[in-house]
Amino acid sequence: MEPAQKERTPFADIDGLPASMSAMVLDALTEMGRHPEIRRVRRVAFEALCPQPGQRLLDAGSGAGEVARQLAGEVARQPAGETQPTGGVVALDHSASITAAAVSRHDGSDVRYVTGDVCAMDLPSDSFDGVWCERVLQHVDSAEGAIAELIRVTRPGGRICLIDTDWSSLAFDGMPSGLGEVVMAHVRGNFTPKQHDMGRTLRRRLVANGLTGITATPVTCLFTSPESAAVVLPMVNPRVPEESWATPPGLRDEWLACVDAAGASGTFLAVLTIWVVAGTVPG
Ligand SMILES: C[S@@+](CC[C@H](N)C(=O)[O-])C[C@H]1O[C@@H](n2cnc3c(N)ncnc32)[C@H](O)[C@@H]1O
Repeated sequence: MEPAQKERTPFADIDGLPASMSAMVLDALTEMGRHPEIRRVRRVAFEALCPQPGQRLLDAGSGAGEVARQLAGEVARQPAGETQPTGGVVALDHSASITAAAVSRHDGSDVRYVTGDVCAMDLPSDSFDGVWCERVLQHVDSAEGAIAELIRVTRPGGRICLIDTDWSSLAFDGMPSGLGEVVMAHVRGNFTPKQHDMGRTLRRRLVANGLTGITATPVTCLFTSPESAAVVLPMVNPRVPEESWATPPGLRDEWLACVDAAGASGTFLAVLTIWVVAGTVPG
């Protein structure tokens, strides 16, 4: 019988990981932020959120703070008719160690880094013009609770932009199809994120909460080498340890050998859809 889905994901409790694993998670977040496909996803999300000079924004689950600092650059420009820039960004993350890493990378922009739980934030209601929440909801106990909190802290007329993965969309080519099926069954049934199809559910969640002007954009990320894929897909990353949740028990080495062979022959291919869904909080 397949083991049950683990209760907590590495990203749900980074501070609870052994030091070597939390360092690996920080490196992974940094590398992901540099990956061209993740940058493409973020360009779509910037268009959907459309940050404006003078706005107050929240990056909920901000990781190493890279996006928060980019958003701060957008809102810091002086709004027309104002003499002082009024915008700024709050970067909130559950993990104290990730927040410390984000602070150590601070570039002087108007970002305030705080630790907190997106499901119960110590932030006033109606205090933000916009919210960014990237690849966080798949890891939380209650996506409904988190979205309710994001709506609470956003002023009427403000915009919420959710970005999340649909792990069920993951597909490979170039590897033996039987082995690929076992890996995919593992992803569908036992992969750690609580909601591996979170991305595709985001639109319905915003509809259910009465948001208006909803846009939903699926961005299908393409990986044509194992090295490129390993940045985003833990199940092809040889640095992710065997005892982790990424690959089916006992099949990791055989699977990674096939991944390597497909890479060497130039036939490796993987695709994964990440959704960008935004909506306006009703007045
Ligand atoms: C996959 S990372 C994404 C980080 C960042 N948004 C990015 O795109 O680089 C998930 C982040 O969500 C944070 N996180 C997980 N559960 C959280 C919660 N309940 N409240 C706030 N942050 C949370 C983790 O600490 C981690 O930094």
